[in-house]
Parts: sequence; structure tokens; C-alpha cells
Amino acid sequence: MIPLMKNAFLNEYETKKALAEFILQASRLSMDAECLKFERKFAEYQGRKEAVLFNSGGSANLAMLQALKNLGLLKEGDKVGFSALTWSTNTMPIIQMGLVPVAIDCEISTLNVMSHNLEARLEQTELKALFLTNVLGFTGDIERIQTICRERGLILLEDNCESLGTELPCGKAGNFGMGASFSFFVAHHMSTIEGGMVCTDDQEFAEMLRIVRANGWDRNLTAQQQHKWRQKFKITSEFEAKYTFYDLGFNLRPTEITGFLGQYQMQFLDQNIKCREDNYLRLEKLVLQNDDLVPLNHAHINTLSTFAIPVVCKTPQLRNQYLARFSGAGIEIRPMIAGNMQRQPFFGKYVQERYELPGTDFLHDNGFYCGNYPELSETDLETISSCLYS
Ligand SMILES: Cc1ncc(COP(=O)(O)O)c(C=O)c1O
Repeated sequence: MIPLMKNAFLNEYETKKALAEFILQASRLSMDAECLKFERKFAEYQGRKEAVLFNSGGSANLAMLQALKNLGLLKEGDKVGFSALTWSTNTMPIIQMGLVPVAIDCEISTLNVMSHNLEARLEQTELKALFLTNVLGFTGDIERIQTICRERGLILLEDNCESLGTELPCGKAGNFGMGASFSFFVAHHMSTIEGGMVCTDDQEFAEMLRIVRANGWDRNLTAQQQHKWRQKFKITSEFEAKYTFYDLGFNLRPTEITGFLGQYQMQFLDQNIKCREDNYLRLEKLVLQNDDLVPLNHAHINTLSTFAIPVVCKTPQLRNQYLARFSGAGIEIRPMIAGNMQRQPFFGKYVQERYELPGTDFLHDNGFYCGNYPELSETDLETISSCLYS
């Protein structure tokens, strides 16, 4: 059996041992110094001014949209474009925030929204924001997308939960929008068991994210930020400030375990990204020789930090054959994430508007993926290779 992921952590035993020792000596396990240290380390790694840690990538997505509403940058009824090929908790928060999700088609060869897909949608529909997903470690032509958003006054957010480490000549995936989310769930590029992050260069946005993350209060802000909020609402005593709630929030806090694990796992991150890229490029050679399969285009990407090994067949019949082949070889497989989001039951219940999405439909009907991680042995890679011949 080749599962989607073999271990919860990179360097599993060493990490669990360090975690056990950390827990034994820690005087506090709820969000505190370790979370802050991880935030600083991750912001530096990503090359962003601010990083705000959450208990999951889905929470990070929800918090970004709530923060934009709290800041008055989005309001109920505003249309938010999203990559039609994405994960449920990218699109669900758009609905949960009373915003209107507008699906944007993805190109088959890059798995992603391209600037021409966005331009085509903007011809029919006015958008206030674009919540772009960088799918499975691949990206579209994000620099051009960023320019379109800037020119048209659209807020750009990136869901980078699947693409930590991917780098284009013009910058890292996750550094193109006002904010970007990351996931540290097991099987992602690094794991804190559960966990997520938002990176941003916008200090006001980061401040609001910290308010949204913890009940709407100011406890996790700097003294200067607290002073500003307390002055604005005439909160004069520390006693009253403890239970003063300034804007809408949730409890989406991580724990010190998340903070500790994040810092610890980061030491293995570059090695993991390199290994995933090497695995993908090795297997891709077979895909390029196989007429049953669609070659994927990543010529615009310098570092391809793949989340998984995506396979796109030319027809649904061929996909059936390849699904049977992979399953028969004991390789765990999954659909191409949530496929065309418009075809998901929850979407049908809450959203009226539908758009033509030929590229995403093709990926929905013809795509699948298997796991990609450093613990794949030579035998595992040989087994996957044996399924990729025509
Ligand atoms: C694109 C995308 N967004 C959001 C998430 C949610 O992340 P989490 O599982 O940490 O909530 C995922 C999860 O894999 C994802 O793939």
C-alpha cells in the first residue's frame, strides 16, 4: 500500500520525541510565546512582514474574509471570484460571510486560473475581490493576475494551502495578494497536526486578523494597538479591557503545540520541498511519453513545490482505466481536489449563479492524484512509475 501520506511529521520519530519533551517542560500550552516565535520564523521564511497563526488553513481563510469585512473592505452581497478547482473551505467562507462566490475557470494544462480566465469572467461580472487558489503546488500567471487586480481595484487573496515553497521568477506563491493562507495539516508540506497561517505585508490587516482569531478582543495586539482601540471606545480600565470585544471574531486559536511543531518542522521544510519536486519531475518524464495523459505546464515556475502527483487523463474512460491501475497497485488516490466546486452539493444549496467552466469540468472528469512525500521509497516510486506507462 502506498498511502497518501506515511507519517504525521517530517522526521517522525525525532519530532515526536522533541514534542514529548516540550510538553513535559512547558508551563503553558495555550497560545503564547511558541506561537509568536513560529509566526516570526514563518514570516521571515516567506518574506512577508506579518504572519498570523491559526488552528487550520480553513480557519485562516475564514478569518481573512471576516477581517476584510470588519475593515469595511468587503460587505455583504459583494461578489468574490474564486478558482473553480479548489478545496471546500476556500469557497465555504465566502458563502458564510454573506458574500457571493463567482467561479472562475481553471486552465487544464496549469490546473489554475490564468489571467485570460479572469479577464473573461470580468467581462461578464464585476468582482470586489479574487480569492485565488494555487492548486497542488502549481500556479497560474499570478504576476499578470496581480496586475489586473491592481488595475481594476480588486482585492487579491491567495489560498496557498497546497503550494508552500512554490516560487516563480517574480516571487513566492503566497506573496502576490494582500494576504495568503497556508495549511499545516498532515500531508501538507509541513505538519503541525492541524494548523494554518496567514501571511501579509499589511499591518492593519494582520491586526484585524488577530482580533478575529480570538473572540474579537485586543489581548494579542501590541500595547500601541491596544491603546488605539481602547481610546477609540473609551475603555479606561484594564479590568474592563479584559472582556471588551471590538469586532466580530471567532475562536480560531492554535496551541503552543502548534507553535512548537511549526518551528521544529521548518528545519526540514526546504529538504521536503526539494524531494517532492524531484519525485514529481522524475515521474513527469513518463507522463510526457504517454499519449493517454495530458502534460502539465510549469515552465513559468522556478521551484515546483508539489503537494501531490496530479494525473490528468485525456478522457473519462481512460481515467477509469488509470484509477483501476493505481488502486490495483495499492496506491491510494483521490479526485482532483473538490473538482468543479459548482458541482458540489453544498454549492447547489446556497448559490444560484452558475458559470460555464469547461477547463475545470475537464479536470473534474479526467483528473486524480496520489501522494508525494519524502518517505516514498525507491520501490514506491517504481510502483507509481509502472502505472504511468501507456
Ligand atoms: C486549497 C486548500 N484550502 C484550504 C484547505 C484547508 O486546510 P486545513 O485542512 O488546514 O483546514 C486545504 C486543505 O487541504 C486546501 O487544499
